[in-house]
Amino acid sequence: MAKASKPSRSGASTRKPAASAKSATTGIKLKPVEAPKPSRIIAICNQKGGCGKTTSVINIAASLAAMGQRVLIIDLDSQCNATQGLGLQMNDVEESISDVLLDPKSFTLADVILESPYANLHVAPGSIELSEYESRAASEIGRENRLKKAIAQVREHYDYVLIDTPPSLGLLSVNALNAATEVQIAMQSHPFALDGLHLLLETIELVQQELNPELKISGVLVTMFDPRTKISREIVDAVCAIPTLKGRVHKTVVRQNVKLTEASKLRKPVMYYDYECTGAEDYLQLSKEIAAQVKTSTKVTAPAKKAAAKAPTSNKSSSKSSARSTRA
Ligand SMILES: Nc1ncnc2c1ncn2[C@@H]1O[C@H](COP(=O)(O)OP(=O)(O)O)[C@@H](O)[C@H]1O
Ligand SMILES: [Mg+2]
Repeated sequence: MAKASKPSRSGASTRKPAASAKSATTGIKLKPVEAPKPSRIIAICNQKGGCGKTTSVINIAASLAAMGQRVLIIDLDSQCNATQGLGLQMNDVEESISDVLLDPKSFTLADVILESPYANLHVAPGSIELSEYESRAASEIGRENRLKKAIAQVREHYDYVLIDTPPSLGLLSVNALNAATEVQIAMQSHPFALDGLHLLLETIELVQQELNPELKISGVLVTMFDPRTKISREIVDAVCAIPTLKGRVHKTVVRQNVKLTEASKLRKPVMYYDYECTGAEDYLQLSKEIAAQVKTSTKVTAPAKKAAAKAPTSNKSSSKSSARSTRA
């Protein structure tokens, strides 16, 4: 492993700050949440690449953080798009979640967590070495439990832990499903979206049976919805008709919106790129829907308003009504 340096358990390591020197620090001081309540650990899954998992993780996390919730993103994909999508530079990441998974005796999750440039939003960065986890941990006892154990050490400090998963149903995704209290399935409203869905549902069922009986499918996030096409509607209807997913498809669907791709190129959550675009609107609405799944306060409070005020917005006002992003 390239990163052999021993981290400081206190967080006072020599790690360089992440992307924003002002807001990213060398470590974090963890404080317990004011009103203790069980944090939700949500794995965003689908073995298909390009269906909007990372975009959903970043933008739901940013929306929840703007609502005043303490959020941790765990980037389990070796492509590290969630880490980079928050503006962190991979050159500045010295320790990552792969260190915690591959060498849990030397690295705790708290050792690798970084602040993001956004209030309430932390990230356990990914690294290219995650791609080695499958082969390196193949013969190790407890290989499916590593992430669960790591999260247990920091769980009380967060309201939400969102896990971005790789495009496969291998050991990393199994770790995510084992660690999670719930799984949200990201699904592009595309004709091929249903292919392979049975495999994902089977994997979830297997994890429920063998490892994590508490795991529940708490939602299906429909992404890249095109309200102009019949096929988009038909795909959503087909997903809603699957018995295991009945009643679990979120009412708010995320419409196709190029601003989401533009924001990811600029490595920001979309609400900090264009607060009024449909992408920002849909993810904020979807996040409220997710937050309302349990009785937590979902009121957008001062931090969100402040964030919104600070967020650079386009001059164009949104011409789309939010009703268009909501299923009838
Ligand atoms: N609602 C959307 N509208 C338009 N483009 C989107 C939308 N959601 C995601 N994208 C784009 O689709 C691509 C794949 O998304 P991503 O979140 O990286 O998928 P995954 O993590 O499942 O591989 C990215 O270029 C992203 O910007
Ligand atoms: Mg991804």
